[in-house]
Amino acid sequence: MTHMHVAGSIHADATSPAPLWLTRPDDVNALTEQLWSKNASRNAEGELEIAGRTAASIVAEAGSPVYVIDEDDFRTRARQWRDAFEGWDVYYAGKSFLCTTVARWIAEEGLGLDVCTGGELAVALRGGVNPARIGLHGNNKSADELRAALHAGVGRIIVDSSNEITRLEQLCAESGTVAEVMIRVTTGVEAHTHEYIATAHEDQKFGFSINGGAALVAMVRSHHSPHLVLKGIHSHIGSQIFDTNGFEVAARRTLKLLAQFREATGVTLPELDLGGGFGISYIKEDTPATPAELADGLRSIVEHECRGFGLAVPRISIEPGRAICGPSGTAIYTVGTVKTVELGGGQSRRYVAVDGGMSDNIRPALYAAEYSAALANRAGDGGPVLSRVVGKHCEGGDILVRDEFLPDDIGPGDLIAVPAAGAYSRSMASNYNHVPRPPVVAVSNGRLSTLLRRETLDDLLALDPGA
Ligand SMILES: Cc1ncc(COP(=O)(O)O)c(C=O)c1O
Repeated sequence: MTHMHVAGSIHADATSPAPLWLTRPDDVNALTEQLWSKNASRNAEGELEIAGRTAASIVAEAGSPVYVIDEDDFRTRARQWRDAFEGWDVYYAGKSFLCTTVARWIAEEGLGLDVCTGGELAVALRGGVNPARIGLHGNNKSADELRAALHAGVGRIIVDSSNEITRLEQLCAESGTVAEVMIRVTTGVEAHTHEYIATAHEDQKFGFSINGGAALVAMVRSHHSPHLVLKGIHSHIGSQIFDTNGFEVAARRTLKLLAQFREATGVTLPELDLGGGFGISYIKEDTPATPAELADGLRSIVEHECRGFGLAVPRISIEPGRAICGPSGTAIYTVGTVKTVELGGGQSRRYVAVDGGMSDNIRPALYAAEYSAALANRAGDGGPVLSRVVGKHCEGGDILVRDEFLPDDIGPGDLIAVPAAGAYSRSMASNYNHVPRPPVVAVSNGRLSTLLRRETLDDLLALDPGA
């Protein structure tokens, strides 16, 4: 679903004030449990509290806007994935959110870590992650990034192109190392939320096509290379996936490929990675399966397909990102202005502008991602009013929460909290309009600690030699 208008986002869908899925709440202050981190609740005074800290006290200490990670929630989710997929390997996808402390939490909870640039690799290593439990992704890894991975001894490099195989072989020859690799394959399956489409999705930049034969060629080439150890293949089919249908097709196609490789070489590769993309609740409508349900589903799919191809079940890995850090994170903003816009036909929309926006969460502007929101510093008075939470940037599409019912009496100085904001918010944040990026704090048992400090104007000006 997209809300964009060909004439630009400023001409967006003004005639339909509320989407069908959004119903007027009986109690506008009630928090929908599935959206919020484990230790979030409204206290007796009506304030939002996260892990023993009120939203107002977090803002008093860390400023506004601020991303807040509920550490216990993050760690609990990491453990749930690890335990549900026992016997398989769970790699946390660092692109969703990474800093050295999070890298350490992930290692402490027994997960591996997936990185896709030299920058993410540097953070993972600085966070003390065992290199053997790191996988390096990327469709265009530079020689420096590959060199850094070889030097560190990462456990797997997920190879994405023939050029990369050549580059890696040269680097291994130069350094006298051998690289452990997986081949990233495209299965032709693309899954997003409830839909999955099992054809015609080859037209994208990642990996080697199974359908066109490029995947098998890359596998055979890597297998015969004296510089590479081919461990297996890797497939990632999409994002915000709520069920196992897309994985079923991907598993069938990847396992068939492993069977073809065995036919061609006599060798059974030991590993298969089924990627990430497991969905979370951004809005009430989203009802993702639990890790345990997904694990059961994926296990029986893989076992069934392996039986069909006469293959031993390979060592399977998965790469959840948002499903671990997304629900653990809440973004808190301060309201600056409130404005009601007449839409005609007796319809109106209230715009609540806050002190952040598309620079700290690009997802709504980038792909019409939906979020929810709540008044955080107090319980509101008055009835629910259909509202749009917007940012402070010079773009009509600078929207954080497209549609939400918020209390009638919201005004400047109030705090708005956006749940499920832990993934792809800070990690995709920019300095658009020269807005410094907000800090990320962790809260645990009433204690607040800084994971990433707030950027300052001095940080931004330090990049400008003319300043
Ligand atoms: C290869 C790969 N693995 C894992 C992920 C993580 O996805 P998610 O955060 O939706 O679980 C991504 C996301 O783009 C990806 O490209």
